[in-house]
Amino acid sequence: MLKTTIRTHHLKELTKKHIGENVQLSGWVNRRRDHGGLIFIDLRDRYGITQIVFDPSSSKEAHAGAEALRSEWVVTIQGKVRARGEGMSNPNLYTGDIEVEVTSLQVESKALTPPFSIADDKIDVQDELRLTYRYLDLRRTELKEMLIMRSKAMNVIRNHLAEREFLEVETPILTKSTPEGARDYVVPSRVHPHHFYALPQSPQIYKQLLMVAGMDRYFQIARCFRDEDLRADRQPEFTQVDIEMSFNSAEDVLSMAEGLIKKLWKECNNIDLVEAFPRYSYKECVEKYGTDRPDLRFGMEFVNVEDIAKRSSFSVFTSALEDGSIIRAINVPGGSTLSRKDIDELTSFTKNFGLGGLAWMKVTEDGLSSSIVKFFDEGLQGELLVKMKAQHGDLILFAAAEKSIVHQALDHLRRHVAEKLGLIKEGALEFLWVTDFPLFEMDKETKRLCSIHHPFTAPVPEDIEMLDSDPLKVKSNAYDLVLNGSELGGGSIRIHNSDLQKKIFTLLNLSEEEITEKFGFLTKALSYGAPPHGGIAFGLDRILMLLTGAESIKDVIAFPKTQKASDLMMECPSKVNDDQLEELSIEKRRLLTTK
Ligand code: AMO
Repeated sequence: MLKTTIRTHHLKELTKKHIGENVQLSGWVNRRRDHGGLIFIDLRDRYGITQIVFDPSSSKEAHAGAEALRSEWVVTIQGKVRARGEGMSNPNLYTGDIEVEVTSLQVESKALTPPFSIADDKIDVQDELRLTYRYLDLRRTELKEMLIMRSKAMNVIRNHLAEREFLEVETPILTKSTPEGARDYVVPSRVHPHHFYALPQSPQIYKQLLMVAGMDRYFQIARCFRDEDLRADRQPEFTQVDIEMSFNSAEDVLSMAEGLIKKLWKECNNIDLVEAFPRYSYKECVEKYGTDRPDLRFGMEFVNVEDIAKRSSFSVFTSALEDGSIIRAINVPGGSTLSRKDIDELTSFTKNFGLGGLAWMKVTEDGLSSSIVKFFDEGLQGELLVKMKAQHGDLILFAAAEKSIVHQALDHLRRHVAEKLGLIKEGALEFLWVTDFPLFEMDKETKRLCSIHHPFTAPVPEDIEMLDSDPLKVKSNAYDLVLNGSELGGGSIRIHNSDLQKKIFTLLNLSEEEITEKFGFLTKALSYGAPPHGGIAFGLDRILMLLTGAESIKDVIAFPKTQKASDLMMECPSKVNDDQLEELSIEKRRLLTTK
């Protein structure tokens, strides 16, 4: 099927049934072994590896040519398929029963010695080098398989959604800012001096306008751009599976989205996710795990121990409570094996999140043990053991501070300890839906309301009347999908009423003029007959990361950027010449040096 003018077969095609056939093969020299008289080459392409043999008795010229061959040279050979010698088959290779005896060799291109090995499965080189030579890294099995999986996943998504009448529509890249909470990448306009396009943080508004346009069901595998601090699961440029539907409830979106995710795991990993994904309210997540994207692969839920702490004589706890702090504890199963030094390390780990100290108690055969146990009488110790469901060998860790600090510190600590003690079950997949988000939160710095999702998210109808009186109590019709502590996707039912949309903008502190300037087109569109609608967007890169077990999002993107948002291979961002700037009416300023 992949026969071309240059080759008759690809390199994962030939088996015993081809023995005796004359073939023409092309590929890269993966490894070369010179066995005195015979030279063996593993020839590699995207599909696999075929062993070829240069025997001087078949062709002196080809054999002489093979002496010069080096790793990564590209060659085309002609030859005859033959069985490998007795006991020489390689059961790990699809083509392992045969080899091709070469009659002629053509070197298509020579190669410099690569900066790292392509043939070895595991290499120990700096990320920077791999990114600079990404085209070589992509030749390696690990990354090649990832790209193959990514392409497969995209096909599964397209087919699944197309079968359900979702229409694939592309939306502009040069656009106006969409508020998804990050900084925009902006592009200057030549035709309109001092005016800028923004690259989309998501196609959010366009997909809503497509619903106003009557498209009913839309999807797009869409590129999004966000200028934000990067982490292992964030890239400045990433891909969303963006979906929107009309005349639907949140329930419709959840079941459609769950079906898609289950299909992906089945088709790509052959895993049947039979159970319905559990649902947790935002409140429950934050109270039990301190975060709205909890990792449920291990326990260690937060336990409110204030009632016990209050009755102790441990002044750190009693005075913390008087100051309005909260106290939460987690029970680390088997944690009493941790040494003093280990616990000190945990304490300094939580300092990064603002926690002043970490109190602890080990559960031994003789009961609780630690320097603070003496402040808890026997009755309280018993109550504590029951409340924490703690058993011999466990470790109880306590955090007392302001709520947001306790939540953040224990959330990180919980995950850190789970890694450290190997409490994460291999292969576990803990999906959950998080629902019942508040519509707004208070921005700590500006002391103003801001949207938890985005400003187009609909409040639940029964809370609309609280918008003015108690906006922080208003719940939204939004949902997130979380897997193993990673947010895979999020969405909501949208506002489809122009007046309500204007009201939300006003609550978000936008003036009438700002609403018109920034979102006038949307509020106008909503006045021309908008259907009830809602949708979701999944982070495709994060899905791929979890499907393939990759450690970083970088490993599932063909040409990713570094932590500092640069492309080391292309050397970008890069300077542009003065003429280009002139055309764009942009003047260079001296760079401000940061101290
Ligand atoms: P949200 O901002 O939650 O929602 O994004 C949806 C999903 O996109 C992924 N994601 C990222 N992946 C990699 N790098 C990033 N920098 C990055 N930022 C986000 C996450 C996230 O869950 N328009 C709404 C969706 C909607 O309401 O329908 C939106 O963009 O997996």
